[in-house]
Amino acid sequence: MSAVLAGAATAPLYVRNKKLKSWVEEIAQLTQPDRVEWCDGSQQEYERLCDQLVAAGTFLRLNAAKRPGSFLARSDPLDVARVEDRTFICSETSDDAGPTNNWVAPNEMRATLNRLFAGSMRGRTMYVIPFSMGPLGSRISQLGVEISDSAYVVVNMRIMTRMGRAVIEALGPEGEFIPCVHSVGKPLIGSGKRVEKDVAWPCNPTKYIVHFPQTREIWSFGSGYGGNALLGKKCLALRIASTMARDDAKADGMGWLAEHMLILGVTSPAGKKYHIAAAFPSACGKTNFAMLIPPPAFSGWTVTTVGEDIAWIKPGEDGRLYAINPEAGFFGVAPGTSEMTNRNAMATLREDVIFTNVALTDDGDVWWEGMGPAPKHLIDWQGNDWTPEAGRNAAHPNARFTVAAAQCPAIDDDWDNPKGVPLDAFLFGGRRSTTVPLVTEARSWAEGVYMAATMGSETTAAQAGAQGVLRRDPFAMLPFCGYHMGDYFGHWLALGAKLAAGGVEPPKIFTVNWFRTDENGKFIWPGFGENMRVLEWIVDRVNGEAAGIEHAFGISPRYEDVTWDGLDFPHAKFDAITSIDADDWREEIRLHADLFGTLQARLPLEFAHIQQRFERRMAGG
Ligand code: GTP
Ligand code: SPV
Ligand code: MN
Repeated sequence: MSAVLAGAATAPLYVRNKKLKSWVEEIAQLTQPDRVEWCDGSQQEYERLCDQLVAAGTFLRLNAAKRPGSFLARSDPLDVARVEDRTFICSETSDDAGPTNNWVAPNEMRATLNRLFAGSMRGRTMYVIPFSMGPLGSRISQLGVEISDSAYVVVNMRIMTRMGRAVIEALGPEGEFIPCVHSVGKPLIGSGKRVEKDVAWPCNPTKYIVHFPQTREIWSFGSGYGGNALLGKKCLALRIASTMARDDAKADGMGWLAEHMLILGVTSPAGKKYHIAAAFPSACGKTNFAMLIPPPAFSGWTVTTVGEDIAWIKPGEDGRLYAINPEAGFFGVAPGTSEMTNRNAMATLREDVIFTNVALTDDGDVWWEGMGPAPKHLIDWQGNDWTPEAGRNAAHPNARFTVAAAQCPAIDDDWDNPKGVPLDAFLFGGRRSTTVPLVTEARSWAEGVYMAATMGSETTAAQAGAQGVLRRDPFAMLPFCGYHMGDYFGHWLALGAKLAAGGVEPPKIFTVNWFRTDENGKFIWPGFGENMRVLEWIVDRVNGEAAGIEHAFGISPRYEDVTWDGLDFPHAKFDAITSIDADDWREEIRLHADLFGTLQARLPLEFAHIQQRFERRMAGG
């Protein structure tokens, strides 16, 4: 028997799931690793793998006095973000994937993957990583198993998900799991003999992030970074889960939602608690908003964090929508995070953190742009000496931290509650330097869905490619929707209508924009904690307690409808971030038409009516 078979055959006794055992064996046959290791998720295993990563040069142990239990990883400079142009939705037909996704016929893609994965783990250890998205035992949760040849992936998955033996036990002999196969695509043995010494960040210039929605499988090749490699996150919890959520609507008439949303709790001075889910595109402020610290004038208010990237949302027995955070950790953007902008995140990062692509200080701690004054000397994210005169970033703009959610001082008491939290409002917000006002309440569910569907945002470093380019990013789901975007809009419209038909008013929908700039390109709105002023108006609207002014797209606050205590924000600036310019909006609606043109075949009919309504109201009719 080969070493490979021996490895797979020596699955621990607690593994009783036949399908799991035979799948692991099949993947080992294909990828030819030296060894197979079943991860139990223990602290001991975590520490052993971290030590191993230090020995391999992938991890650098940070100063234990400054940043206990923490590590720095530096990735390959060509492997620093999600690769949207290498991400594929391989549904049976290209029509099911829709024009916003890359599609290859499943058979053709399987042939490609078989070729790429054949022998791709030679000389390496193949790790079997059982994980749960959502609390184990929640009716909303899903189980997955990731196979990976990266120990970096194992330790990150342990923080980001509920990972280990308990998942295998929950699976039992017959349970279903979503199979996820990941290889960095850099075998250590070529044609028969050991040819290469390992590098600190193995990866492959050829990258494939592949989803088969029909069979609910994920295959990822060539990248070790973030959403490309931690397959529970974008691949499972968004792309595959969004298709499951829609398919379940066919089965139970209702379905559910898998969304790129933070979830927060906000408690008013009167002690009333609300829950808000907010979709902002990548690197557009979800982590910050989820951990918002109200300014001193709002001393009676508290904001608590349920989730900061993904929400799974289902109708509960009372007919209301309940949301869970399927993750157990944060994979958050480091640059811009500081004691001033996000004190809760900084406190979360005090210990037991994996940092990727941040800068290293001379005393063995971390630094990034926006944290505070730059030290006189650093080692930058590529391992080179850096001084403030260097004229380049010390941390990569998409540098990230991996940290357990439970470490966040603002974590909500119910963040781990298998029932989820009841939602009171949805927010949608892009990064828009012009056009889109600070906050608008949609007149209805349908108009809110339209506004979310047509959301635009300027691109960020979270995806490989050019930054600052305006694109449509419907629901902040452009790179994450696992099926035809037109059908997705229809699913949202139908869900709201079904809730209403059941006698439950669906949550109100708002759009926000923190990012309007002045003639010097500077943000006009102070943002961060000051976003509390907008959140208060939203919560008061939910209550029916706040006034506003109606315009073509909905209801927005007037200057006098916002609490300004403790902030000097003149009326003129408020006008500059709330104005609705007729020419800008004519262009904006033309861009909506472009999006609708590409989605035409499956676009809800209702959208055309809403668009006409907006145009009529803009013309003053
Ligand atoms: P992903 O993890 O990529 O999905 O992103 P995210 O939406 O969680 O982004 P995050 O909160 O990490 O924010 C990314 C960047 O936006 C950081 O550099 C923040 O400093 C900046 N940011 C967050 N909130 C605000 C705000 O209210 N105003 C301004 N101007 N910038 C903000
Ligand atoms: C995003 O890009 O929206 C992220 C980071 O949350 S990653 O997990 O790498 O996709
Ligand atoms: Mn995200």
